[in-house]
Amino acid sequence: MNETVGKPIDRVDGKLKVTGGATYSAEFNIKNMVHCVAVLSTITKGRIKNINTSIAEKSPGVIGVLTYKNSMQLHTPTSSDPGGGKYAEKDLLPLQNDRIFYDGQIVAVVMAETFEQAEHAATLVKPDYLVEEPIFDLEKNILKAYKPASGLGGAETQVSRGNADDALKSASVKMEETYTTPVYHHNAMEPHATVALWQGDTVLFYDATQTVAGTKSLMSSMLGVPKEKVRVISYYIGGGFGSKGFSWPNTVLAAMAAKLVSRPVKLVLSRQQMFTNAGRRSQTIQKISLGSDQSGKLSAIKHANTVESSFVDEFVETAGVATSMIYSSPNVDVSHSLVRLNKVTPCPMRAPGEAPGTYALEVAMDELAYQSKVDPIQLRLVNYAEEEEQKHKKFSSKNLRECYQKGADMIGWSKRKPQPNSMKEGKMLVGYGMATATYPANRSASSAKAVLFADGHAEVMCATQDIGTGTYTIMTQAAADAFGLPIEKVTVKLGDSEFPKGANSGGSQVTASVGPAIRAASLGAVSKVVKMVVADAKSPLHGQKEYDIVAQNGGLFLKDKNSIGESYVDILKRQGLQDVRAQAATKVSTRQQTEANPAAAGSAEKEIEDESKTNPIVQEDEKLDRKPFAFHSFGVHFVKVLVDPDLGTVRVDKAIAVMDVGTVMNLKTAKNQIMGGMVFGIGMALMEETHYDPNRGRPVTKDLANYLVPVNADMPDFEVEFINKPDTIISPIGARGIGEIGITGITAAINNAIYHATGKRIRELPVTPDKLL
Ligand code: MOS
Repeated sequence: MNETVGKPIDRVDGKLKVTGGATYSAEFNIKNMVHCVAVLSTITKGRIKNINTSIAEKSPGVIGVLTYKNSMQLHTPTSSDPGGGKYAEKDLLPLQNDRIFYDGQIVAVVMAETFEQAEHAATLVKPDYLVEEPIFDLEKNILKAYKPASGLGGAETQVSRGNADDALKSASVKMEETYTTPVYHHNAMEPHATVALWQGDTVLFYDATQTVAGTKSLMSSMLGVPKEKVRVISYYIGGGFGSKGFSWPNTVLAAMAAKLVSRPVKLVLSRQQMFTNAGRRSQTIQKISLGSDQSGKLSAIKHANTVESSFVDEFVETAGVATSMIYSSPNVDVSHSLVRLNKVTPCPMRAPGEAPGTYALEVAMDELAYQSKVDPIQLRLVNYAEEEEQKHKKFSSKNLRECYQKGADMIGWSKRKPQPNSMKEGKMLVGYGMATATYPANRSASSAKAVLFADGHAEVMCATQDIGTGTYTIMTQAAADAFGLPIEKVTVKLGDSEFPKGANSGGSQVTASVGPAIRAASLGAVSKVVKMVVADAKSPLHGQKEYDIVAQNGGLFLKDKNSIGESYVDILKRQGLQDVRAQAATKVSTRQQTEANPAAAGSAEKEIEDESKTNPIVQEDEKLDRKPFAFHSFGVHFVKVLVDPDLGTVRVDKAIAVMDVGTVMNLKTAKNQIMGGMVFGIGMALMEETHYDPNRGRPVTKDLANYLVPVNADMPDFEVEFINKPDTIISPIGARGIGEIGITGITAAINNAIYHATGKRIRELPVTPDKLL
């Protein structure tokens, strides 16, 4: 059998995307549709005294203006609401009152016949404000910091073992430094966009979201509409990076506007509006203290983080999240402090916590390497964590030593002169740096439906979504291998909340969560067909043992004698069947959080649960006791930089990643994910930064001309390799997620290479020429 998993298969949706055939949320045009444009606050804190909409309302084409005065009342979602969705700013439901908590908050939505008319009229809405004194500077307000009890989903924010302070006192080598990262914005290519349409008492959304299932639950809660009357579609998504993992005002506002005017509406945020209406990464101030002996063996790690949240919700950028598990140390102390500011609430951004956290920790490790005169790779090997020491659990699978070895060979680490500022190419200073990458391997409950049709093709459905990462493609591979069909004969349907509920595209979890469900549903359908043929006197497989039969080459055949068997087409034709259907729900969760309540009797979910009880694939998967294990991916980044000594400019010349992420489902999309993360890291290290007006607290770099992201001209020579050893504990498919690990560590590797090239340690990101000169 020619299995497809692992192969560098082209994206199944590639042609649609490059020919414009893939329709994104903002591209749905519905008859009689109204165009909406949001109006944003120009003050940073205060109240709306009065909002004059009469001039805008008289403007050509305007249908109405939605403000807190004529808006419908929303319900605040609570933890008892139907599971899944979470509103990004829980105490600031849009247009519910006159309060302003940050610059750029939505204060009105103008509805017009055309987008241009709405955009013009939006400039005519004139709010009068009562201005209050805002606070928006993290450093100036550091004394207001408090210790949050927990982070997102109950994540621990204060973690310790042993006594790090005592151990630091007696350590023979000590380092203590503070590292900072600025506010970053996700800047996905596709904007946040919603088309909403009421049909009687049901509401349909085309919404750019990382969770169709979660958005359905959330809109049901906020709008007070039963779940079965809400449908969310997101067929194609142009990146999310975390900002589309939560609902921002555009989604619910579109439904509110549509209700008000009884017409379909479209609301798309502009690039500039997304700087204040779609989250961001928190600024971080990270103080790290390391203590070791002369060989570099760590006796203490301390990581004190100060990060920011807003006045309307509590979100913690858990920059210390990896610190207690990445290296072996008897004494660890990780803490997070939070300062509330008048800015939009931060939210997860690609490798939330780990991206800034591994930056600081891995630069600190490099500093310790120089201080203790131990090679940076050797330092990491001396402190290799054989188990998850905080939780005393075995890793489900960890092959990080191989990553270090392979990466070192690839970059030629042994030829590097350890002395900083000692290598040159022409006038350019040459530097090499490395850092460890790590990200948790998450898996959560997912379900799927599979249908094998009489013409020999199959369809698989799941209410997860492809945010641009290749989910359609790898799920097609998983289903094709299960059915024994070529990928051309398999269609995977995602991005519709009507399908069986699948994982949200967050926490790098879709592959490990949805893959097993799709495989189980597909194999469930195969097993139904197997039962038919062994019982059918007319089948060449009549009377055979079920376990001796395999699905391959478009049908069922004897495992040990491939010539005996028949095609699905022949089987279904003889059986007189249009199709064979199966559904499966896999409930394995590697996270502590509890899954949603058991399915209600008579519901579609209950039906899937019941069928899963007789699915041997699901049963086998679920019976494995995963409690003794910790699930993490690991890897390493090696980079070579060239620094211009006259201009202070840094070019990443070569970037090598070696990743241990379990089974690689598709070599092409996998490399693409890791490279994407590395590009994110180059931006984070060298150019990205949201600047705020120091007097007003409003973002001033709010377009892609002023908020610099890496472009093709900034790209290094990339090499991405995988260890590709299946993680048999996380799931039967052996794959862990790869969406986020690529950005972890890379920023530190670049920073360490800059130090090696120049002898200058810049601890404040991004490393721009002004800081280097
Ligand atoms: Mo990711 S930041 O968990 O979408």
